Amino acid sequence: MPKLLLLEAMGNTGEYVFDAARDMGVDVIVVTHQDVFEDWYSPSLQAKIKQYGKLVFTDFSESEGALRHLAELARAEDVDGVVACWEFLTPLVARLTADLGLPGNDPARALSCRNKRIMARAFTEHGIPAPRTVAARTVAEAYALVDAAGLEYPIVVKPAEQSGSWGVSVVRSDEELKAAFTTAQSHLFQMPHGIPLDPHVVIQEYVDGVEFSIETVVARGVATPLCPYDKFTTDGAKRAEFGHTVPAELDEASVRVVQQAAVAAAQALGITNGVAHTELKLQPDGTTRLIELGARLPGDHVVALMRQARGIDEARIYVQLALGLEPSLTPTADTAAGIRFLTPPRGGVLRSVSGIGHSDAVAVSRFTVEPGGEVREPGDNDSRVGYVILHADTAAKVNAAAARVLADVTIEVA
Ligand SMILES: Nc1ncnc2c1ncn2[C@@H]1O[C@H](COP(=O)(O)OP(=O)(O)OP(=O)(O)O)[C@@H](O)[C@H]1O
Ligand SMILES: [Mg+2]
Repeated sequence: MPKLLLLEAMGNTGEYVFDAARDMGVDVIVVTHQDVFEDWYSPSLQAKIKQYGKLVFTDFSESEGALRHLAELARAEDVDGVVACWEFLTPLVARLTADLGLPGNDPARALSCRNKRIMARAFTEHGIPAPRTVAARTVAEAYALVDAAGLEYPIVVKPAEQSGSWGVSVVRSDEELKAAFTTAQSHLFQMPHGIPLDPHVVIQEYVDGVEFSIETVVARGVATPLCPYDKFTTDGAKRAEFGHTVPAELDEASVRVVQQAAVAAAQALGITNGVAHTELKLQPDGTTRLIELGARLPGDHVVALMRQARGIDEARIYVQLALGLEPSLTPTADTAAGIRFLTPPRGGVLRSVSGIGHSDAVAVSRFTVEPGGEVREPGDNDSRVGYVILHADTAAKVNAAAARVLADVTIEVA
C-alpha cells in the first residue's frame, strides 16, 4: 500500500484529504503537535485518525528540527508522498519532498507561495500583473516607501505571512495607515503551532474589480486550471470572506482569461507538481491582477463544493499528485454549489441565530459556535458562527437561493 505523510489535518481540508487517501487505499501518517491534536481536533477526527491512520507528533515552530525529524521518519516509514493541509507548512513540504526525491514543488521558490512580500517580488520578476507592493518594518519606513512608490489611497495593508484575512485592512489616510500597520504587525507568531512569521508589513495599491478564486493542478510540470469560482468578501476597511460559489458566474472568454492568469502565476511561483490556489481580480478592462497564490488546496469546504458541483475531487487529486499518479481531472457533473458563512454583527457572547430561510437548494446548514460561546469582532475569517451549503443547477440559482436563505437571519450577540 502507498504511504502518505499528511502534515496537519486540523483545518477543514485535512479531513477531506485523509478520507480521500483512505478511499484510495493509501496508508496515512498524520503529523501534528500533541497539544494541537488534543485541543483543536474534533473528537471524531481524533478517533478516525487513531483507528485508520498513524499519528506522529513534531514541533513545526522549529522548521529545521521538523525537517530533520520528518525526513528521518519518511525514510524509516518508506513514505511515497507528502502533503500539507495547513498553508503555513507548504515551504516545509517543498523542502522535504526535494530532500526525499518525492514529487513536489520547487523548494527555492516555495516561500514565494507563502510570504506576500516575496510573492510580490516574484510576480514582478515574472511579469505577472499584480498590485504594486512595498514592504516595511516600521511605520516611518512605510510612509517613506508609500511616498517613494507614489502609492495613493486607498491602499491595502497586510501582514507578510498571515492568512484568513487576519490583519488585512483597506486604508484611506495617513492616520489609518498607522493603525492598520500596528494591527498587521500584532501577530508575529502563527497560531496554533507558534511558527515565527516575517515581521514585514506589506502595503499594496488597492486594485478594483471582481474577485475570483481558482485552482490549478500541476502534474509533473503540466498545468491544468479548474473552473474559476466566485469569492465574496465584505466591503469596507476589513475584507472577510463571506462565501464562495462554484463555478463563477462568468462568460466563457473571461473564464479563459482567469484560467490563463492562474496558470501563469502557478508557473511563476514554482508549482511544478501540486495544486495552486489562486485569488485574483478581473478588472473592468478585462485584465487580471493577482492577489495571492498558495501551494495548497482551498479551504472553506470548497473541496466539497467542487465535488458536488463538478464531480471533481480536489482532495483525491492532491493525494494523486503527491504520489506521482495521474490526477483525475474529468468533470462528471455540470451543476453549481455555494457556501455562505454566518457572521455576527459584532464580537461578544453568542446568544442565538435565527431566521435562516428554507430552500430546496440547502444541502447543509451548520453552526460552528454554540449559544454561550465567544465570537470575535467581525473583520476576518475567524468570526464566523456557522455556514450554509447550497446546491442547484446553475450558479445564478445558487446565488439567488443563498440571498433568500440569508435575507432574514438575525445573529444576537451580548
Ligand atoms: N491589493 C489589493 N487590492 C484590492 N483588494 C485586496 C488587495 N489585497 C487584498 N485584498 C482583498 O482582501 C482580501 C484578503 O487579502 P489576502 O488574500 O491578501 O489575505 P489573506 O489573509 O491571505 O486572506 P484569505 O486567507 O482570506 O484569502 C482579498 O481576498 C481581497 O478581497
Ligand atoms: Mg487570500
